[in-house]
Amino acid sequence: MHLLMHLIFIILAFMCYEHKPEGAFVPPYSSVVLPVNKHTDAVKPLYSVQIMTALVNSQYLHANFLIDVDAPFIWHDCILQWNTFQGSCPDNTLCAYPASCEEYQCTDVRTTYSYQNPSCGPVTNDSTIPDWGYCTCPVNVVDPITGSCTQALLNYDEFTVNTSNGRNVFDGLYGAYPNAACASSSTFQSFPANVTGVMALSSSPYALPAYLYDPLKRIMALCLPSNISAPGVMLYGTGPYYLLPQTTVDVTTYLSHTPLLKHSDSFGYFIRVDSILIKTRSIFVPINATTKISTIEPYTTLRSDIYDSVVRRFSKVTKRIPPAKLVAPFGLCFSTSVNGTQVSLKVPDIDFILPDGKKWTVSTTNSIKQITNEVACLAFVDGGATSEDAIVIGTYQLEDNFVVFDLDNSSFGFSSSLLRKKTSCSSFNFTLTNSP
Ligand SMILES: *[C@@H]1O[C@H](CO)[C@@H](O)[C@H](O)[C@H]1NC(C)=O
Ligand SMILES: *[C@@H]1O[C@H](CO)[C@@H](O)[C@H](O)[C@H]1NC(C)=O
Ligand SMILES: *[C@@H]1O[C@H](CO)[C@@H](O)[C@H](O)[C@H]1NC(C)=O
Ligand SMILES: *[C@@H]1O[C@H](CO)[C@@H](O)[C@H](O)[C@H]1NC(C)=O
Ligand SMILES: *[C@@H]1O[C@H](CO)[C@@H](O)[C@H](O)[C@H]1NC(C)=O
Ligand SMILES: *[C@@H]1O[C@H](CO)[C@@H](O)[C@H](O)[C@H]1NC(C)=O
Ligand SMILES: *[C@@H]1O[C@H](CO)[C@@H](O)[C@H](O)[C@H]1NC(C)=O
Ligand SMILES: *[C@@H]1O[C@H](CO)[C@@H](O)[C@H](O)[C@H]1NC(C)=O
Repeated sequence: MHLLMHLIFIILAFMCYEHKPEGAFVPPYSSVVLPVNKHTDAVKPLYSVQIMTALVNSQYLHANFLIDVDAPFIWHDCILQWNTFQGSCPDNTLCAYPASCEEYQCTDVRTTYSYQNPSCGPVTNDSTIPDWGYCTCPVNVVDPITGSCTQALLNYDEFTVNTSNGRNVFDGLYGAYPNAACASSSTFQSFPANVTGVMALSSSPYALPAYLYDPLKRIMALCLPSNISAPGVMLYGTGPYYLLPQTTVDVTTYLSHTPLLKHSDSFGYFIRVDSILIKTRSIFVPINATTKISTIEPYTTLRSDIYDSVVRRFSKVTKRIPPAKLVAPFGLCFSTSVNGTQVSLKVPDIDFILPDGKKWTVSTTNSIKQITNEVACLAFVDGGATSEDAIVIGTYQLEDNFVVFDLDNSSFGFSSSLLRKKTSCSSFNFTLTNSP
């Protein structure tokens, strides 16, 4: 059985390969498209991508996986099943074929592409599946919400996503066959409702981008929505990309680019920030300070030295706005109520100045968070004096910003707020059209 399964995987892999005779095959699609949902029912706002999993009665089941640009591999709520030909996967359960402890992927994930967390214990080989005859491959997984470590079992998984021309959803499908890991349902208790996995979007060879290849270019565009009822979008492949109501403006024309940096101890994405500019005054960012992009941290976190300067400067340029009592975790809050009616704040932009004078502008919608009718706060938090990364750009600052991770050219593209361009991340046209 094991051998047969392997043979099928080899054939599948070969079929995928056959799609791309050199130069000959021009696909009708330029990218694959995944809806991005915002969830506000967990301890912090979180975002998921929707994918299609098992085919049941010729209909694909859909699942939402948490977007994590740092995670080393994909894991989700599923169980291992080796005798898949008997159709014995229980209802409301996803089943995946096990990876054995003898396969190189097992050692590779455990040694090189594992979660690095002191709370994780050693992994052992002891579990086996009745009648399968091989040991399974337990790997450590860290819950990105609680930080707790548990074990999952490495598998051979299968995901399906829709294709796109950057403007609509095409009727053609794209299959990805990752080594992911199965964790038990109880592992996802801290997750938002209907979110049953972690979608690693990092540079690790076990993250999703590594399984989306020819004819796709290794370019990942991500647009996190601010609206929980209208999905944002992830597109993997090349542009152009379009967002309504503009039907002739390619979103790539809105982008500035900066080098994407790597750090040896992380699969995540880093950029260089030279300074933070607030109304003509620059706050210098030390040369050895690292800036990481996070899809888990809700607010941009600044190391104390940088944070203190930003808050001092920002309170100076907003002197005319009456202050409010601080609301944790923020360090600067404003009163937004005048005689009992809420007024909307308009504050100066915060510009992240990147190499070559490139500028990522954080305008009011991304810098100020309305907490109650009466109080709004500067949506940046103090990361402490010794935080590992001096700057961690969080999701509140990413919402309604179109960002592009070009993994081939190691470049990072960013639009700043799309609202200033009269569009948003919730403006992708998900209408299905026939591919040419
Ligand atoms: C893929 O497209 C089909 C047809 O429009 C749609 O029903 C399905 O929800 C889409 N799946 C995902 C994961 O976007
Ligand atoms: C698991 O078993 C494999 C194959 O026998 C072996 O190579 C590997 O070292 C074992 N790993 C652990 C953690 O025991
Ligand atoms: C979860 O999914 C179920 C079934 O699709 C749906 O009825 C429910 O509204 C969803 N809950 C949330 C919080 O999205
Ligand atoms: C959020 O999306 C819904 C559904 O598309 C829409 O009706 C609503 O106006 C949007 N809210 C905001 C604040 O844009
Ligand atoms: C960064 O540089 C400063 C001064 O040049 C030094 O004190 C500090 O230890 C350095 N930090 C790191 C993380 O290398
Ligand atoms: C608020 O109320 C006071 C007293 O009623 C009044 O003098 C003032 O003009 C009001 N301010 C605004 C902005 O309406
Ligand atoms: C990536 O680099 C290639 C070769 O240098 C270049 O042709 C291409 O335009 C670059 N792509 C982007 C998006 O900058
Ligand atoms: C969305 O795309 C469909 C198919 O191309 C098109 O018919 C429709 O007009 C588009 N919607 C909007 C609001 O432009």
